[in-house]
Amino acid sequence: MTRVFSGIKPTGHLTLGNYLGAVRRWAEVDQHRTDALFCVVDMHALTVDHDPARVRRLSRQAATLLLASGLDPERCTVFVQSQVDEHARLSYVLECVATDGEARRMIQYKEKAVRERDRGGSVRLSLLTYPVLMAADILAYGTDEVPVGDDQTQHVELARDLAVRFNQRYGQAFVVPRATHPEVGARVMNLQEPTSKMGKTDDVGPGIVYLLDEPDVVRKKIMRAVTDSGRDVVHDRVARPGLANLLEILAACEGGDPGELSGAYRSYGALKKDTAEAVVELLRPVQRRHKELCADPAYVDGVLRSGAEKARGMARPRVDAAYRAIGLSAG
Ligand code: AMP
Ligand code: TRP
Repeated sequence: MTRVFSGIKPTGHLTLGNYLGAVRRWAEVDQHRTDALFCVVDMHALTVDHDPARVRRLSRQAATLLLASGLDPERCTVFVQSQVDEHARLSYVLECVATDGEARRMIQYKEKAVRERDRGGSVRLSLLTYPVLMAADILAYGTDEVPVGDDQTQHVELARDLAVRFNQRYGQAFVVPRATHPEVGARVMNLQEPTSKMGKTDDVGPGIVYLLDEPDVVRKKIMRAVTDSGRDVVHDRVARPGLANLLEILAACEGGDPGELSGAYRSYGALKKDTAEAVVELLRPVQRRHKELCADPAYVDGVLRSGAEKARGMARPRVDAAYRAIGLSAG
């Protein structure tokens, strides 16, 4: 059976981008047709300035939201990265296979490093090695497919390269994974700045729809979305990025095609209204279930505990084999 692995960082509250680009597909498709693991990758949240208590709180909230989005512990494994030692164990070995040039070429590293320096901060070494830890997350489980948004393509490529190189140098240990993306929604843009991705920690807060935003907040954010100077409704990502983003969000919610949907609208106002309502309806069941799960913390604890145990059992033999292959003693 196909093995799927994907992860989400608890660096902020989950967004509509996370949901449309990744989580919804994990719940609706991946967990039903594959042997899937979904992980709150909390170690990745330490690569930038962070508050320890907040990371713990957000990890818990992310895990709860994954369950609220429909991940079913009977069908897939849901766990928190730091509860499974194999990720860090394998990451070190992969650091001995990756090159520093390779790590420095990562677009996200370059962008985030500039941002940190512009803020007068220093760049943590873990920000540079982060894609290697991500490769370890993936390779530890013999993963075939990694369902992610577009922004993670380059990182999954690195995981592929490291798997191939390790296998060639030290003997067959890893499956070579590939990224998969949703047809629509793989790159949801910030509503106020439609040329940048809707990220959890953006400075442009009003342009981000969070999964736990109240319906009226969602409506307000979408109705105030920046659109372009033009009157006709057409789908053109380059010339009309704000409009294209709304059409893509609506298409992702309703399962249509953004180009075809554009033909149904004569005004921006009507499009915004329908998009806002579609998002409110999309989030409604997730928010309801989230509330229920928050009232039952023992259930969430139990899911995460048994998820970590299962994940450990799956990763351990492969990581041990990689240790032995590269010249370490293990097991
Ligand atoms: P992150 O929030 O960076 O941990 O991302 C978790 C998952 O959500 C990854 O698969 C990302 O590619 C995806 N994702 C994050 N932001 C967006 C976005 N704006 N549009 C589509 N997918 C996204
Ligand atoms: N780097 C990913 C992101 O920022 C999160 C992540 C960490 C991940 N490890 C992973 C995604 C393994 C897929 C597989 O979104």
